[in-house]
This record gives sequence, structure tokens and C-alpha cells, in this order.
Amino acid sequence: MPIVSAPKYEKIAREIATEMNWKHHQLEARRFPDDEGYVRIPEEVFDSIRSEPVILVSNTYPDNNIVETLLLLNALKDVRGGQIEDFRGIGEDLADVGLGLILAVPYFGYARQDKRFQRGEPVSAYSIARILAQHCDGIVVLDIHEEKVMQSLEVPVIGASAMPEIGQHLMAVASPDLILSPDKGAIGLASAVAEHIGCEFSYLEKRRIDAHTIEHTPKNLDVNGKVVAIVDDMISTGGTIRKATEALKRQGASAVHAACTHGLFTGGALTRLEKELDGIHSTDSLENPRSVVSSATGFTRALKGLLSLDDFKQ
Ligand code: R5P
Repeated sequence: MPIVSAPKYEKIAREIATEMNWKHHQLEARRFPDDEGYVRIPEEVFDSIRSEPVILVSNTYPDNNIVETLLLLNALKDVRGGQIEDFRGIGEDLADVGLGLILAVPYFGYARQDKRFQRGEPVSAYSIARILAQHCDGIVVLDIHEEKVMQSLEVPVIGASAMPEIGQHLMAVASPDLILSPDKGAIGLASAVAEHIGCEFSYLEKRRIDAHTIEHTPKNLDVNGKVVAIVDDMISTGGTIRKATEALKRQGASAVHAACTHGLFTGGALTRLEKELDGIHSTDSLENPRSVVSSATGFTRALKGLLSLDDFKQ
């Protein structure tokens, strides 16, 4: 089966291809001088992407990658739909090969605007999900902040998770005694890691005052002398992790690690976190100096699930 990507997602796409014994094709994606996007499907891969369902690996972050993803989906849809004749009349149109255009999203941008926090706001995560769903036949998304936003779309969606691999990695490098979720929202992900490696689990209660200020409800944890790994879906400013780390160190934790699927590390977060933590670990869903866990196995599990649906059976 073909898996395709712009050059920047080649690593993840190739790793999935290797695990699934698929073929990876690189697509053209670049920027015009005015920063508008340009994409193209090389002609030599037309046959391959028309022969079977095709998986596009592409992020929807930052904003210009939403446009790039949509343009790539449209170009793939045209080729699969047989619309390949150019403006000079070169290349005759072919038959439509039908359903089978699948989008695999390592990091789904806008995921945190998952509700209408104040009247007058859009539910941005759902808005983006709906647009994507209009341009493909199925979606696989890695550790999305709130899975609910991907429900009730017009195409099937399957969540992929890197938590088992994050667990394996933490065991190998830190052997944690306790896995901690920094808030209620990450309980599902963090407890999956704890379960996977068979270790103790707890969580904190967090209140976000604004984008840069958060408050944790004090909680007495039995962490004296323990190695603790905080597991979250994403680290952005690092505020959540730093607050949790302060509390853990105050209560005697011997080492604190932080692991996440999506390492955004905005505004110097990594430098600040490095001063206070004993280890910072993320997957490769976004490029960053701490991307040490491959998301390919998580994607592989989810893609197998999606491809077993009747729509995509060959
Ligand atoms: C929020 O609920 C998320 O799960 C993360 O905890 C949060 O987005 C991390 O953001 P920051 O690093 O800016 O605290």
C-alpha cells in the first residue's frame, strides 16, 4: 500500500512504511516567495496511489500546514479521481478509483480549543476536523487532546496512541516509580502508560488562569525518594509541567521526568524545563530536540484498525 508525505514528514511516513511493509512516496511541497504553498504529486507515483488506498501523513500545525494538508489531499483526490489532464490538455482523464484517501495526523493543531469557552467563539478543533473530513475518506490522529472533537464527522476516525512506546522508553531511561497526570484531562493517557509498565499512578487537579498561568490544587503524594514521570498529551509553554515539578520536588521526589506526545516547547520552554527536570521526552509528532519516541508503531496499530473497515477492504 502507498504511504505519502511532504519531505518534512518523511521520517514518520518511512517508519510506518517499514513496519507495514508498504511503499513510501515523497510528494512535492514548498513555498512560493510570498509564502503561499505549492504541492504536486509526481507523475511516476500516479499508478501507485491509484492502485490501493493511500495514506497521507501531514500535520495541521502551524497554520500553513493546514493549507498544505488540504492542497495535498485535493491533489491526491484529483489523481485518484482520474482528473489529471493539465491546462494544455496533456494527460487524459482516467476512471475514478473510489474511496481510500486516508489522512494520518501526527499533531492536530487547534485541538485545545475543544469547546466554546466563551460565547461567540468557534469550537476551533471541531471546525478544523470538519474541514479535513470533507477532503478525505478516513482519518487517523495521534493522541489528540480531546477525542470527542473527532466524533460525529462524516468519515471514520481512529485515534492512534504513542503511550505504550512512551512507557517503554520511560522504563528504559528512567524506571519510574510513579506516573503522574498533571491534570484530569491527561488521566487517560498517563494511566495507560502506568498500566503498560505496571507502575503506580496518580493525578493532580489543575486550574488554568490564562495561557501562561496555571494553579494546581495541593495534593499530598507519597513521592519521597521516588522517581516520578509526568505524562501529558503536549507540552507548550511548559507551565503545567513546571508547576507539577515544583510540587513533586517539594514533596521529596528524587527525580522528575516529563513525557508527552507533542513537544511544542514554545517561547524557550525547553531551556526553562531543562533547568528543573531530570529528563524531557517527546515523540516525533513535531520536530524538536527531545523527540526520542517514534510514533510509527502507534500509527500502525490505528491504521490497521481503519483499513479493516468495510469501506477500505480490497
Ligand atoms: C492541557 O490541558 C494540556 O493537556 C496540557 O497540559 C497543556 O496544554 C500544556 O500546556 P503548557 O505547557 O503551556 O502548560
